[in-house]
Amino acid sequence: MIRGKFITLEGCEGVGKSTNLEFIRDYLQSHKIPLIVTREPGGTPVAEQIRTLLLDHTNEAFSEQAELLLMFAARSQHIKHVIRPALNAGKWVLCDRFTDATYAYQGGGRRMDIHTIESLEQLVQGTLRPDLTLLLDAPVEIGMKRARQRGQLDRFELEKISFFESVRRAYLLQAELNPQRIKVINANQALADVHLMIMEILQRILP
Ligand code: TMP
Repeated sequence: MIRGKFITLEGCEGVGKSTNLEFIRDYLQSHKIPLIVTREPGGTPVAEQIRTLLLDHTNEAFSEQAELLLMFAARSQHIKHVIRPALNAGKWVLCDRFTDATYAYQGGGRRMDIHTIESLEQLVQGTLRPDLTLLLDAPVEIGMKRARQRGQLDRFELEKISFFESVRRAYLLQAELNPQRIKVINANQALADVHLMIMEILQRILP
């Protein structure tokens, strides 16, 4: 059995992740790729409960360490019960956010030590890394405007603009450090043009 491919989609709030996730799913399915679509934090019953905890802004304040460890606790469940079994069965996995989000939000946004994140990544994932990451990038104000229009903001979306500027910078740094894996897509253009770029990138990894 050939191992499936692991594709992740990343970006700040309001860059069009959901719309483009659907586009990628439809595109891969139209090419008869056996696929599961999932998300982080979440993807299993326990990990979804951790997600609810993490996004609820009415909870007591989280320590930065608790937030980081919960992200990786959810990830560990997700990898064990969903991601690894699917890849081993030859399915492709399309995941809405993964560890690059931890480097961006906990590393960039919360300024947590990168080496701590690296060691948790090693502990939880071993050698597992995405085969391809699509990073949707747009100026922070544009994304935040769209996020606000969606209504009720979660615990992360309530952060200040400067937090998201740091998140964006950390994402772009991750892309610079991993140019083979992470493809940056300008999300501040017509959706049809975003889709064209996504298709071009996906074409290169189709069997
Ligand atoms: P979203 O994917 O629906 O936007 O919500 C998930 C939120 O969780 C988002 O604000 C980013 C945040 N997050 C982290 O801070 N670290 C992580 O590792 C992941 C996967 C998500």
